[in-house]
Amino acid sequence: MEERFKSADRPETEEGKQYHIDLKRGDLARYVLTPGDPGRVDRILKTWDEGEIKAFHREYKSATGKYKGVPISALSTGIGGPSLAIAIEEAARIGCDTFIRVGTTGAIQEGINLGDLIIINGAVRLDGTTHQYIRGEFPAISSIEVTLALIEAAERLNFSYHIGIAASTDAFYTGQGRPGLNDYIPSFAKEIFYDMKIANVTNFEMETSTLFVLSSIYKLRAGSVCVVIANRITNEFQYVGEERGILVANEAVKILNEWDEIKKEKGKKNFFPGLLK
Ligand code: URA
Repeated sequence: MEERFKSADRPETEEGKQYHIDLKRGDLARYVLTPGDPGRVDRILKTWDEGEIKAFHREYKSATGKYKGVPISALSTGIGGPSLAIAIEEAARIGCDTFIRVGTTGAIQEGINLGDLIIINGAVRLDGTTHQYIRGEFPAISSIEVTLALIEAAERLNFSYHIGIAASTDAFYTGQGRPGLNDYIPSFAKEIFYDMKIANVTNFEMETSTLFVLSSIYKLRAGSVCVVIANRITNEFQYVGEERGILVANEAVKILNEWDEIKKEKGKKNFFPGLLK
């Protein structure tokens, strides 16, 4: 039978199943890894103690399970701000409140190698989606707790990582200063790489600014860890290191869960290092 949705404004079923992600409250844990690629959800699932695929509708594939005993989920967002915004809107409606993007990226600074991780703590809003939520002066920043948990996880796992500000674009080619078809390259695209590089932006990718802006507006927590698959300085491209990003994000969820428990025990709203004493 075809599913019936409540209204055009709220495309969810009577039981609260959200139209795009095809999930309802209780289907996902509060901690959600958000890769762009639906195929990465299967590979994330394989790194958990247990878990199952929950749904796969359009670009939104989801899984839920346990990592080192902690309830954890994954939901793919597709590429770019528009589809990511839908994923976050709907996942938050069913109770998810902590998101970690597990992505890939192109590095634009010297000293960052293919396969390294970049933990993103802020993003330049070169996307279109966030400008349909809030004016351009609003910052795209991560949750301090999630970023700290990602750093702790990368240190524990002894992976090479960098911390930095990303530039999140809507176009992989011209938006990131690559030539388009037949070497099409408008004047602003010729300048974007230089402008970001001299401002010490670490990398280009396509989703983090939207994740951060929506999370701030909706009082959710978000962080982002991306594996470097393009080195824009040496002009190398290689799909390497995906598992490192996944393992760091899993471990960050375990750490966040420990910190959330400590906060509850000690009656504190925020985590700070002194709470561990
Ligand atoms: N993703 C991007 O958006 N850019 C890159 O260069 C690599 C991955």
